[in-house]
Amino acid sequence: MIREAEKEDTKQIIALIAASMPYDTAFARRYYRQYFDDPAGDKVFVWEEEGQILGVAGYCLDLFSTKYSCELGWLTVDADHRKKGIGSKLLKKVEKSAKAQKLRKLFVSAEDCNSGALAFYKKNSFRTEGVLRDFYGLGEDQIILSKWLD
Ligand SMILES: CC(C)(COP(=O)(O)OP(=O)(O)OC[C@H]1O[C@@H](n2cnc3c(N)ncnc32)[C@H](O)[C@@H]1OP(=O)(O)O)[C@@H](O)C(=O)NCCC(=O)NCCS
Repeated sequence: MIREAEKEDTKQIIALIAASMPYDTAFARRYYRQYFDDPAGDKVFVWEEEGQILGVAGYCLDLFSTKYSCELGWLTVDADHRKKGIGSKLLKKVEKSAKAQKLRKLFVSAEDCNSGALAFYKKNSFRTEGVLRDFYGLGEDQIILSKWLD
């Protein structure tokens, strides 16, 4: 089932992120500490089964901008439970919640080598907005995608 993340979930959320995106672990730790202290309009959801957090996704407002766009934050599903629709359901929840806040556009960035994530976003109607060349290293581009929320 999907529910809003709670502070007690932090350890499991960080473990999920560490397993699939280890380079993001330190930033994720800082983000969720701040999120549970003061969400400031952001929202995080988890997919839970029998006390186990198997997926996480959220959206973050751009604090420097208008409340028009937001960013999908750390969508990840436990490796043993992928391709069962959990990621899509978490994404739908994020979209519904962001739309309810009158946000209009959802952005996400992904590594160009993350073919699984890019296929997932394509299937879920994201379009490519741009490419930040050599963002992660020489020849390692960042792809920026977006989706209208209405
Ligand atoms: C991307 C991710 C969240 C998708 O979660 P999921 O629960 O597997 O997604 P769903 O089951 O809802 O959707 C599956 C669909 O997404 C696409 N997809 C997902 N993983 C894929 C892969 N490895 N290769 C190709 N297509 C893939 C396919 O279109 C697939 O549909 P199909 O099963 O009919 O082929 C998951 O693969 C994940 O956690 N990846 C590691 C973390 C990550 O890269 N997150 C995104 C960071 S930008």
